[in-house]
Amino acid sequence: MKKFFIAIMLVLVPVVASANTGGVHLDTMGPDHTNKESLQRGMKTFVNYCMGCHSANFQRYERAAVDLGMPSELVQEHMIFGESKVGEQMTIAMPQADAAGWFGTPPPDLTLETRLRGEDWVYTYLRSFYKDPARPWGVNNVVFPDVGMPNVLEGLQGLQVNHCTASEMAHHEKTIDPLTGLTMGGCLSVAEKGELSVEEFDKTVYDLVNFMSYMGNPVKLESEQIGYKVLIFLAILFVFAFALKKEFWRDVH
Ligand code: HEC
Repeated sequence: MKKFFIAIMLVLVPVVASANTGGVHLDTMGPDHTNKESLQRGMKTFVNYCMGCHSANFQRYERAAVDLGMPSELVQEHMIFGESKVGEQMTIAMPQADAAGWFGTPPPDLTLETRLRGEDWVYTYLRSFYKDPARPWGVNNVVFPDVGMPNVLEGLQGLQVNHCTASEMAHHEKTIDPLTGLTMGGCLSVAEKGELSVEEFDKTVYDLVNFMSYMGNPVKLESEQIGYKVLIFLAILFVFAFALKKEFWRDVH
């Protein structure tokens, strides 16, 4: 019996997935798939800034149009730049072999990226590029050291500089001063301004990662709703099952 209980306890221990971040602090983003406007803005950023290099081979434009509440014609007109039709997958034309030559590593497919790394990782990664003249694209990344990807959002974010050494990076968390609302600490700060302020840029990246999170799990909302319905069904069934049990056992005693 004791063994049985130990086994049950072990099964109940949640399996904590922890991506290897090299000890770097990750900012939390809290994806919200009910926020359709955020998802639509995120998809726009994704097709404009990411699909030059990254595909999303397991996502169809049309499915996203339906799930995000956008008319297919508008998606065809404003979100598809190549020859693709709205019913097709979000593929790209860049040959993997050429890309490997240009970047050192081919840009991976991003459909399931948030499942692989976690939303917080992607959110922090996209905001953690900083100036490093030693790297081929002139930038490095706190979360992904010596990354082969250029900072494609630099026009929006501006160019960041890093004040910390490698060992200091893990211990310099950015915090918000509760009195002034200003950010304090952290290793990175914008040295050359981009089109957006820090808050606006964070929001843009939030929307983008929210969309990527949707792509990684497009049925999340649906399965949650089904889950509630099943629970309600079980609750009602319980009443009848309980009444039936009482009926069966009435004469036994
Ligand atoms: C100019 C081409 C290019 C563009 C545009 C681009 N990337 Fe990348 N990206 C790369 C390359 C190359 C890598 C692989 C880097 C490596 O492994 O060193 C990469 C890697 C990544 C990774 C890490 C993958 C992993 O888990 O190893 C993420 C996440 C990512 N890109 C997201 C994005 C997003 C989001 C956008 C749009 C805002 C974007 N990328 C735009 C070239 C690009």
